Amino acid sequence: MFTNNFSDIEEKFNIQFIAIESLEQTEELSKAYLGKKGVLTALMETLKSLPQDEKQAFGKSINILKSKINAKLLQKKTALEEKELLSKLLQESSDPTLPSAPLIAPGSHPINQVLTEVCEIFTALGFSIAEGPEIETDENNFGALNIPEHHPARDMHDTFYITNPNSTGNLLRTHTSPVQVRVMRSQNPPIRIIAPGKVYRHEAVDATHSSVFHQVEGLVVDEGISFADLKGTLDIFARNFFGEKIKTRFRPSYFPFVEPGAEVDITCTVCANTKTYCPVCKGTGWIEMLGAGMVHPNVFKAVGYLDPKLTGFAFGMGIERICMIRYGISDMRLFYENNVDFLKQF
Ligand code: PHE
Repeated sequence: MFTNNFSDIEEKFNIQFIAIESLEQTEELSKAYLGKKGVLTALMETLKSLPQDEKQAFGKSINILKSKINAKLLQKKTALEEKELLSKLLQESSDPTLPSAPLIAPGSHPINQVLTEVCEIFTALGFSIAEGPEIETDENNFGALNIPEHHPARDMHDTFYITNPNSTGNLLRTHTSPVQVRVMRSQNPPIRIIAPGKVYRHEAVDATHSSVFHQVEGLVVDEGISFADLKGTLDIFARNFFGEKIKTRFRPSYFPFVEPGAEVDITCTVCANTKTYCPVCKGTGWIEMLGAGMVHPNVFKAVGYLDPKLTGFAFGMGIERICMIRYGISDMRLFYENNVDFLKQF
């Protein structure tokens, strides 16, 4: 007799349950069926008036229905809570009104800063800036610079050669010295230029080698230019760039396009030439800065400077190298890794 009653209640509950869309509605339905004044509570009240033999079965049915309703409502509640949380999280993670991450003030790369500074020092001395292409001819990069056919620098292992038939050159310049050739072939003396730029060498990359790096070339040609002019110029540069107390030292060296040629060192910026144990100069008190020398007569001949009264000097320095010396940077790769923590120090 009461079975019908129970299934009616369950059916009615199910219809209302399906329509639930919010936690509040779940709460309301829970109250309506299980609350103090709920349907099932009222039903329980009628238990008393039942004949003794029906009481047990009736009570059991109420309890079964109660726990069915309870379980359904609980499940719904959990699902709705999860849904609410998820939509909240989704909203938060794509909130377009949130302030953006702080911007790092853009600055110039340490290599560019040093390039600019080197150029400023030399332009203050009366040099002008010359440029040349990074794709060069064999003639400009080697031939006109008195670098003979068999010179190891011409080896495939040092130079990147290009085979594009439309290209104006056949290699990536291995130094900025071809700019010397270009300037002398297009201008008459006196010449006083520096040439900053990128150069390429087929190097295994490590802490002190990179296959792309930067150089600044210097060239002065006029009547009566002497080795003393070269020494004075580089001395002024070293003191301007590294500090007033810095001294230079010229050691004989070989570069095919200069004669005599020299390797120029500066007093150690770390131990100040105290010759104590120093990891930077290795206790010698000196750090190698650049290559230099007097322009070789064969270079003058190659570019058509035939006046015997003309003399000149040239030098070439690695920008990464002098930047590392100045800031005490031990690994060249740091310049190219775009690590903001490294770069923002400059
Ligand atoms: N071009 C030389 C190099 O890359 C440096 C240099 C330039 C040496 C000018 C002497 C004169 O090693």
